[in-house]
Amino acid sequence: MAERIAAVGAGLVGRAWSIVFARAGFEVALWDPVEGAVEKALGLVDQALPELAEADLLRGATPAETRGRMRAAASLADALAGVVHVQESAPERVEVKRGLWRELDAAAPADAVLASSTSGIPASAFTEGLKGGARCLVAHPINPPHIVPLVELVPAPWTAPETVERTAALMRAVGQRPIPLAREVKGFVVNRLQGALLAEAFKLVEDGVCGVDDVDAAIADGLGLRWSFIGPFETIDLNSPTGVRGYCEMLGPLYYELAKEQAEARPWGAELVAKIEAARRARLAAGDITSRAQWRDRRLAHLVGAKAEADRKFGQ
Ligand SMILES: NC(=O)c1ccc[n+]([C@@H]2O[C@H](COP(=O)([O-])OP(=O)(O)OC[C@H]3O[C@@H](n4cnc5c(N)ncnc54)[C@H](O)[C@@H]3O)[C@@H](O)[C@H]2O)c1
Repeated sequence: MAERIAAVGAGLVGRAWSIVFARAGFEVALWDPVEGAVEKALGLVDQALPELAEADLLRGATPAETRGRMRAAASLADALAGVVHVQESAPERVEVKRGLWRELDAAAPADAVLASSTSGIPASAFTEGLKGGARCLVAHPINPPHIVPLVELVPAPWTAPETVERTAALMRAVGQRPIPLAREVKGFVVNRLQGALLAEAFKLVEDGVCGVDDVDAAIADGLGLRWSFIGPFETIDLNSPTGVRGYCEMLGPLYYELAKEQAEARPWGAELVAKIEAARRARLAAGDITSRAQWRDRRLAHLVGAKAEADRKFGQ
């Protein structure tokens, strides 16, 4: 019999996780305390699956096979019965997570891993004092996880190393790309990197160096093209004939000067936000944000497919 997973919280992220696990062959039980939420999630999954199959994102499973491995649980206890892994995707509020995690720890099988999708609350804030604290961690996806494979694994101080290893193995087995962090750090890795870039982007606009569209172009038509298949370290390693050492010798002093200038923290003031909003709304009407997000996800799916094809053609 296929191993079981519980997806607790069936909103945007919970339903995407259910696709990740079901397409890889796991039986997924979805649970959500809000009436109708799971049915709504499964309806949206039904709509999404054919397009994912077309983009070759179901790992060879058909939409019917994938959907056939998902079920609405009758209760939290029912969802947790016999599972090897619980993926919690409840609202990003610490008091909600605290109460819920007490229930999860009490009711889940003793050998199941409990993982939270939280974007920024450290596991220590809602797992302290739990009997099963050693089997708890954060497994933070980048939305939507059925298209974007990266998952940050962040242990609390009391998380057992084995919990991180087991979760990393599970994530690899379902086609995700886990990165384990050694310890809890605000923003984890991805939002720290994104935050550093955004801080500079806001400053460039505030200081009148360039416009909102041009900052976006610098990434979308510049750095981001490389970053979609090699990261910043590999980028600089390949940008000098002598590799990363030569790059650092040549440009380290310049980046050090830049870093000193960039170190000043600035709030995103109302006037600056209004300026950026005006530029964005000139490009995209507020009423079109949802459909544009769907467009983005379709393009993301296409990009992931193109990356897989390029891996086959040119090697990884
Ligand atoms: N949206 C993103 O881009 C994103 C990305 C990565 C991680 N996350 C994280 O994933 C989690 C869920 O985010 P989301 O965007 O799916 O939110 P969402 O609002 O779409 O879904 C949350 C779901 O949790 C349900 N819920 C409410 N109370 C609950 C409880 N006590 N127990 C279980 N479920 C409960 C709600 O009914 C809802 O269906 C958050 O921790 C968030 O930080 C979100």
